Amino acid sequence: MVNWRRLLRVSNRSFLAFIFFFSMFTTCLYFIYAAPGIANTYFFMVQAQGIMLRDNVRTIGHMIRLYTNKNSTLNGTDYPDGSNSSELLIQPTTFLPENFTYAQNLPCPERLPSMKGPIEVNMTEIPIEEMELKFSKFFDIKFGGHWKPKDCKPRWKVAVLIPFRNRHEHLPILFQHLTPMLQRQRLQFSYYVIEQTGSHPFNRAMLFNVGFLEAMKDLAWDCLVFHDVDHIPENDRNYYGCGQMPRHFAAKLDKYMYILPYNEFFGGVSGLTVEQFRKINGFPNAFWGWGGEDDDLWNRVHYAGLNVTRPEGEIGKYKSIPHHHRGEVQFLGRYKLLRYSKERQHLDGLNNLRYAPLYVSLHGLYKNITVDLQPELAPIADY
Ligand SMILES: *[C@@H]1O[C@H](CO)[C@@H](O)[C@H](O)[C@H]1NC(C)=O
Ligand SMILES: *[C@@H]1O[C@H](CO)[C@@H](O)[C@H](O)[C@H]1NC(C)=O
Ligand SMILES: *[C@@H]1O[C@H](CO)[C@@H](O)[C@H](O)[C@H]1NC(C)=O
Ligand SMILES: *[C@@H]1O[C@H](CO)[C@@H](O)[C@H](O)[C@H]1NC(C)=O
Ligand SMILES: *[C@@H]1O[C@H](CO)[C@@H](O)[C@H](O)[C@H]1NC(C)=O
Ligand SMILES: *[C@@H]1O[C@H](CO)[C@@H](O)[C@H](O)[C@H]1NC(C)=O
Ligand SMILES: *[C@@H]1O[C@H](CO)[C@@H](O)[C@H](O)[C@H]1NC(C)=O
Repeated sequence: MVNWRRLLRVSNRSFLAFIFFFSMFTTCLYFIYAAPGIANTYFFMVQAQGIMLRDNVRTIGHMIRLYTNKNSTLNGTDYPDGSNSSELLIQPTTFLPENFTYAQNLPCPERLPSMKGPIEVNMTEIPIEEMELKFSKFFDIKFGGHWKPKDCKPRWKVAVLIPFRNRHEHLPILFQHLTPMLQRQRLQFSYYVIEQTGSHPFNRAMLFNVGFLEAMKDLAWDCLVFHDVDHIPENDRNYYGCGQMPRHFAAKLDKYMYILPYNEFFGGVSGLTVEQFRKINGFPNAFWGWGGEDDDLWNRVHYAGLNVTRPEGEIGKYKSIPHHHRGEVQFLGRYKLLRYSKERQHLDGLNNLRYAPLYVSLHGLYKNITVDLQPELAPIADY
């Protein structure tokens, strides 16, 4: 009898605890459901703070070790054991000297003296017409946004693909920073703005696929840069050419406190050669709404036996133009799709895309490709 009562009391208490945790849990779920953007940013922040805390502890530990080692390591110039925070290391100065002379018949080097490092970022909104005038006059940009170096042979022909919807004020800010940078890097380039119309959720990945197919009609590009309109590079040594491996340019974003949120992060700005892009069957078409498609691209790259490289230290820094996700929905089905990345890689991508652009037109600084994306344009067989 006594035992029974005791048991009852205990289960009473655990019942209350259950109610408590259950309501906490549902509140959390509701929060994620009602405000996915905020929840996402919040998770990133918590993660970033964790990384920062760990780094600080390491730095403090390192300092303590230095002082308790009675100066034994202080005269060493290198940072000893394991406390290699790459930010503390000075970038190697292997850039060519100022008096370097270009040769028209030789490929442009990758590390030019014109690449000075940090760029002043100015987020002031400017009318696009003003920008076009300035660029055609002083920067020699051809109508449609094409440029090619004259003093050497460009090492890469780069198509810069920019997925777009409702962000007209961001375009001039991006062009203003990117154009002088790409010219200093002596890359041949064109800008492609791929705009999504219609009422379907934003499909960044499918826009990239469309942009790729349209861009290849113009010229035999060999390098593709997938660029979000609101990401502004802060360093012109972030070379936008391609390489042996796919590259993730936007390694450090100010919105994530300049910390890579997770190792598999592949968002913002990335670059692949045309060959690599074809090999991985492009982006997936099935990600409607924001989020997830960049993780899927990461998986595709790795399933194809490739690795991702990133710029080091300060070079990979980006500022994001502040904005709200105006009415854009998060793609909640992404986790399910990501589980089947491997199976879907050869079913969904460049090979199942059937589309026709609504309008294609040349503007002063870019080619405008407008499409009305629908799920029917990328039919996928069951897997
Ligand atoms: C420790 O190193 C600093 C700078 O290298 C030097 O000024 C100082 O005298 C050293 N202290 C001892 C106890 O050796
Ligand atoms: C530091 O400098 C002192 C004197 O210059 C030298 O005796 C000692 O070996 C150096 N320590 C290290 C770790 O290089
Ligand atoms: C520290 O940097 C050196 C040289 O860049 C590298 O050889 C070493 O593996 C790094 N150590 C750690 C723990 O990252
Ligand atoms: C260029 O400058 C470097 C030093 O900065 C010098 O050693 C080199 O001789 C110069 N070359 C020419 C061609 O003037
Ligand atoms: C930013 O750009 C605007 C428009 O071009 C200009 O008026 C302003 O002076 C610039 N600000 C800085 C700090 O350079
Ligand atoms: C990619 O990285 C992994 C782990 O660092 C390595 O084992 C593999 O050989 C790399 N693949 C290529 C193609 O370089
Ligand atoms: C692209 O063209 C469409 C159709 O002419 C137009 O509505 C849209 O505003 C243009 N977008 C940009 C970014 O120029």
